[in-house]
Amino acid sequence: MNHFELQEGELACEGVQLAKIAEAVGTPVYVYSSATLQRHFTVLREALVGAGLKDPLIAFAVKANSNVAVLRTLAQVGAGADVVSAGEIHRALAAGVPPDRIVFSGVGKTQEEIALALEAGVCEINLESEPELKLVDAVAQRLGKRATVAIRVNPDVEAGGHAKISTGKAENKFGVSMAEAERLYAKASNMAGVRPVGVACHIGSQITDLAPLEAAFRKMRALVERLRGEGLSVDRLDLGGGLGAPYFNQPTPPEPREYAKMIARVMAGLPDIQFAFEPGRMIAANAGVLVSRVLHVNARPEGRKFLVLDAAMNDLLRPAMYDAYHDIRPVKPRPGEPVTYDVVGPICETGDTFTRDRALAPIAAGDLVAFMTAGAYGAAMSSEYNSRLLVPEVLVKGDRYAVVRPRPSYDDMLAREQNAPWLA
Ligand code: LLP
Repeated sequence: MNHFELQEGELACEGVQLAKIAEAVGTPVYVYSSATLQRHFTVLREALVGAGLKDPLIAFAVKANSNVAVLRTLAQVGAGADVVSAGEIHRALAAGVPPDRIVFSGVGKTQEEIALALEAGVCEINLESEPELKLVDAVAQRLGKRATVAIRVNPDVEAGGHAKISTGKAENKFGVSMAEAERLYAKASNMAGVRPVGVACHIGSQITDLAPLEAAFRKMRALVERLRGEGLSVDRLDLGGGLGAPYFNQPTPPEPREYAKMIARVMAGLPDIQFAFEPGRMIAANAGVLVSRVLHVNARPEGRKFLVLDAAMNDLLRPAMYDAYHDIRPVKPRPGEPVTYDVVGPICETGDTFTRDRALAPIAAGDLVAFMTAGAYGAAMSSEYNSRLLVPEVLVKGDRYAVVRPRPSYDDMLAREQNAPWLA
């Protein structure tokens, strides 16, 4: 369930009409619902706790939506943060996420980033390789600290979904094999700068079938038991993110309750372990929309009708990058038979096409449309390609809204650059 619904014939976010925001802030603009963000987090937590997983750490994957106000909204209901860069550490801290709920993942952490994480006191650094283990050990010793780490395992399962977002196969760059994990865990236990507290996995994103997750989690449980059998202590099992969000017209993901029940079944009888999760999309995707204005309806005499929008691939990259399907809804639907449109942005490349041959209610130039399910990997992946200003973000709460990332001015854009002395 989300909080984007028609009210008096117009699409609203909670108690605010999207048209009102578009009028005040301009378009394109991302709009997020506080209630939906918090509800999705709470539904997941209640499902996990209800299934008997005690005190799970739910670290929201900041990469999905890194807006500080969004992170703060989630932190207020108890979310931690899964971060993958110094920038995301700074964002999580700025949002008031307690450091002991911050998990630092990623295949290529720099010394500076590791030092920042240690100074901040994050609760877990997920190590993806032996060189990284050595580096974290060295940095921690230099700082006179001992890093709490987990070994990220690549469980070698096929998660399905788009190849560009699948991470759990042996050939992917992520994590180490089961056998390597055992060796590195034992090795780490004898190093002065690190303290291994657990193992972690994450096999992919937009997973709509529990089977690959279950296969991976069974392997993870077996690994925990083998490590414990060797006398090593394992306190935490990080099961990553990846549970799909419902996108209109796409395969339906399992309910959080089914996901939680599966985990409880797989982990039954495994004593004294804290579970950690790194969900991004299932929390944020349906908590956000991208609102755009139709610049032209270009009806070619040969037949194709193009809706040319003021939003482009730089604002919402997913269709161009992953052929992703986003529902497109008129903010104020007009009566009449559906019309088939190609929906495109103004950028000078063919990839700047959001969809082809989509049947929509009739639309005229000047109308507003909303890309649904755009709260995850939307603004977070936006850029200024074609020197288009970075898209602004608005957060709604009840009948109030606030601009939480303003649209920059052209002066702001130019001020970030400087001349080379020889060009003066
Ligand atoms: N943990 C780790 C280590 C990850 O790499 C990711 C996502 C997550 C958690 C969160 O996964 P989620 O619950 O959101 O599926 N840009 C792509 C998605 C890339 C996902 C990358 N890793 C898209 O727009 O579909």
